[in-house]
Amino acid sequence: MSSNEEKNIPMPEHIAIIMDGNGRWATKRGLPRTAGHSAGMNALENIVRFCSDSGVKYLTVYAFSTENWKRSKAEVNGIFKIMVLYIKKEIDELDRKNVRMCPVGAWNDIPGAAAKSMQYAVDRTKDNDGLVFNIALNYGGRREIADAFRKIAEEYRAAGKELRPEDIDEDLISKHMYAPDDPDPDLIIRTGGEKRISNFLLWQCAYSEFVYSDVLWPDFGPEQLMDCVKEFNGRHRRFGGLDKK
Ligand code: IPE
Ligand code: IPE
Ligand code: MG
Repeated sequence: MSSNEEKNIPMPEHIAIIMDGNGRWATKRGLPRTAGHSAGMNALENIVRFCSDSGVKYLTVYAFSTENWKRSKAEVNGIFKIMVLYIKKEIDELDRKNVRMCPVGAWNDIPGAAAKSMQYAVDRTKDNDGLVFNIALNYGGRREIADAFRKIAEEYRAAGKELRPEDIDEDLISKHMYAPDDPDPDLIIRTGGEKRISNFLLWQCAYSEFVYSDVLWPDFGPEQLMDCVKEFNGRHRRFGGLDKK
């Protein structure tokens, strides 16, 4: 698809994606599940490039959930190995494109080599002011909210202050999320046919638009993304108010 063709289509400011369907993609081809995760990484490369080129400001992708540890050791290790390869292969181009990589989640708990390569990517791109590329890694929405409350309690204790009920409001909680400066996602896409949130961005999705695609993540490209964006552009967001006459 030429970007010319799509030039006049407005893009959401913040797109979030639940990249689901890698395992089924591989199984359908008689391949091991990790082959699906490799193919999924190729799909991610294209989507990041496309979002960066088409003026999306924030892209958040769900790469590994706090529940994904339930999978076999071989699959979990495979996913993190593929992540290290992705960073190695893509970091120069991401940096050149002015992309800032921001892991979100309890990502310090991931295997050492993967955490180290993610830290390298963060340091290398921290001054970039193009696309903000959030990678949800060992991410859970409930964990994020619990972590936010813990951070608040720690700050009060460190300041020798008592945390009173009236100190707690939505703004305080928002400020202690993993990416407090980002706007909430406008559009959340889930590929792979399931229609559920699976513990993704529970706090931030309050007024996001959800678009589901049956396409398995490794087959999801710019064309499918633009189909989702067109569906989003046809929605009427009211945020609890009323449509303007
Ligand atoms: C999503 O694909 C990637 C991760 C959860 C890491 P899946 O691995 O969940 O693929 P399916 O849902 O089994 O097809
Ligand atoms: C959600 O997919 C997590 C990621 C895409 C990283 P899952 O495949 O883990 O979700 P469930 O198990 O189908 O809800
Ligand atoms: Mg899945």
